[in-house]
Amino acid sequence: MSIADFVIVRLDPNVDIAPFDCGDTDLNDFWANDATIYQKERLAVTHLLASRAGETTEIAGYFCLLTDKLVFDPSDREKRKFWSTFNKKNKIHFNKHRKTYPAIKIGRLAVATAFTGKGLGSCLIDHIVAIVIAMNNIGCRFITVDAYKNAFDFYLKNNFDYLSDDDKNEQTRLMYFDIKRFVS
Ligand SMILES: CC(C)(COP(=O)(O)OP(=O)(O)OC[C@H]1O[C@@H](n2cnc3c(N)ncnc32)[C@H](O)[C@@H]1OP(=O)(O)O)[C@@H](O)C(=O)NCCC(=O)NCCS
Repeated sequence: MSIADFVIVRLDPNVDIAPFDCGDTDLNDFWANDATIYQKERLAVTHLLASRAGETTEIAGYFCLLTDKLVFDPSDREKRKFWSTFNKKNKIHFNKHRKTYPAIKIGRLAVATAFTGKGLGSCLIDHIVAIVIAMNNIGCRFITVDAYKNAFDFYLKNNFDYLSDDDKNEQTRLMYFDIKRFVS
């Protein structure tokens, strides 16, 4: 198997949904029942990773994207300290510290069970970063994701970080990726 055997394309909402199984009921269900309607309603756009090796095309993975923002509540004293640390850590210009920062959210991301552990999930992250960098006409600083517990390490390895410790005992945690690192 080589990366040349795969292609990433925007979901065509007028084409029948092909089978997909990543072992997670919610993610399988989103693909089978929700991706098309979300796209038609302009609530999230899904992109699929198709394997073209062999005679048939298989869905090896998918992700969907929508707009988001990172929000800071200045009335909360604890959060003020946290936000100041966040601004320093991400080297946001001192004159441009804001209560909200524009972001793109990964609504869903999954690799089919038959294809995991081959670097395809990381390829999808690279592709998402490339999409956001290419959005030259719209301001967007971060990529966010409500990561599942089983995927925390996957996102850490792909240069995401936890936004705060508030959700450290939860089953999902808000993680973010700073786009500015990759743009001059
Ligand atoms: C999580 C998922 C997207 C990873 O996809 P993948 O193609 O297997 O990931 P990659 O092969 O690109 O892995 C990249 C790195 O993350 C690590 N990694 C991947 N999945 C991991 C996991 N579940 N736990 C710990 N580390 C993981 C890999 O070991 C690899 O590390 P390395 O670079 O040191 O070898 C995939 O397993 C999946 O779809 N799981 C089910 C659905 C899910 O949890 N989606 C995330 C929703 S937020």
